[in-house]
Amino acid sequence: RWSHVQKGPEDPILGVTVAFNKDTSPSKINLGVGAYRDDNNKPYVLEAVKKAEKKIFEANVDHEYAPIVGVASFNNAAAVLALGEDNSYIKEKKITTVQTISGTGALRVAAEFFGRFLPGVTAYVPNPTWGNHNVIFADSKVPVKSYSYYNPSNCGLNFEGMIKDIQAAPAGSIILLHACAHNPTGVDPTHEQWKKISQVCKEKEHFVLFDFAYQGFASGSPEEDAYAVRLFVEDGHLIGLCQSFAKNFGLYGERIGAFSLLANSAEEAAVLESQLKILIRPMYSNPPVYGARVVSSILSNKELTQQWRSEVKLMADRIIDMRTSLVKYLKQHGSTKDWSHITNQIGMFCFTGLTPEQVDRLASEFHVYLTRNGRISIAGITSKNVEYLAKAIHSVTK
Ligand code: LMR
Repeated sequence: RWSHVQKGPEDPILGVTVAFNKDTSPSKINLGVGAYRDDNNKPYVLEAVKKAEKKIFEANVDHEYAPIVGVASFNNAAAVLALGEDNSYIKEKKITTVQTISGTGALRVAAEFFGRFLPGVTAYVPNPTWGNHNVIFADSKVPVKSYSYYNPSNCGLNFEGMIKDIQAAPAGSIILLHACAHNPTGVDPTHEQWKKISQVCKEKEHFVLFDFAYQGFASGSPEEDAYAVRLFVEDGHLIGLCQSFAKNFGLYGERIGAFSLLANSAEEAAVLESQLKILIRPMYSNPPVYGARVVSSILSNKELTQQWRSEVKLMADRIIDMRTSLVKYLKQHGSTKDWSHITNQIGMFCFTGLTPEQVDRLASEFHVYLTRNGRISIAGITSKNVEYLAKAIHSVTK
């Protein structure tokens, strides 16, 4: 019956972990998937999360179904975290937020919604972007194209190209923007550049969808990382917003995220929500409650929120330190190349400029694993393996 089904390739990102797990070398390093590790290379469970878990356990909660849209207190907390305490859309209920299966689920719900209510409208994603974006839109029957983003010659932003492409897209297109800590490049626009991007999107009446997977993780400040999202909202864009709580709360496997749509009125928001429910019900009925309870317990408690803020900053700072350290060791071991992009780029990832062949050599000769586009997850670097990594990178690039 299944003889016509051919074996498919591994996922370009998650497949790196599969290869890493097969390697028996004690010096192996996994710089593939974006998952934070502490300086002992161990997954980090935030203290704020542990305290919230204790509270949830002590509250003797039941395991009833959540509504289709998820846990209400979580949805509100997610929107407030992204848009800010005083946001008028939240105050006037001109927003609908649904809990989703992390950021991927948020994007998938968004894409299905566009497929149904903006049929034939093309989604523009940056070149390059997180590989899953293209597939999510394609699987949801949303045409997808890209706009210029990365400038390989200086490992920075091709701002002119980006503006030109957004201007050239048909009016009313869907423009996907990474809110902060662009994945895979670690290159973000400056505040001034964001203002221009907002203005151009406004002129073209584009619909802007933010992928916001790293709030707090880029700069260490959830407010600073929300700059672009809040700016676009202030500028009058009725944005779509996809949030993930995998990285900033360390809740990867709990699959906790949110999708929000801003509306012109509370009535319109209610209409949008009714359609999101109709769309979600046949996909997964309603979302799991655990991660939502953890996040909302933290964000509804001043002390836990404060603790979370200091822990997300600690994670962001460790990543920034590892960038500096990697560059230091590259130089120390004799590399004369310009590695300034390692410290200029921001967030969990660095787009190193390594070629696919160099990436293959890192795996086969040095047991260092990363995606073939040359992206390294800085979160996998520690003070113990950074020198080994620098020597390996120097070996394959000299
Ligand atoms: C990544 O890009 O490594 C993360 O967003 C994890 C994932 O699901 O790909």
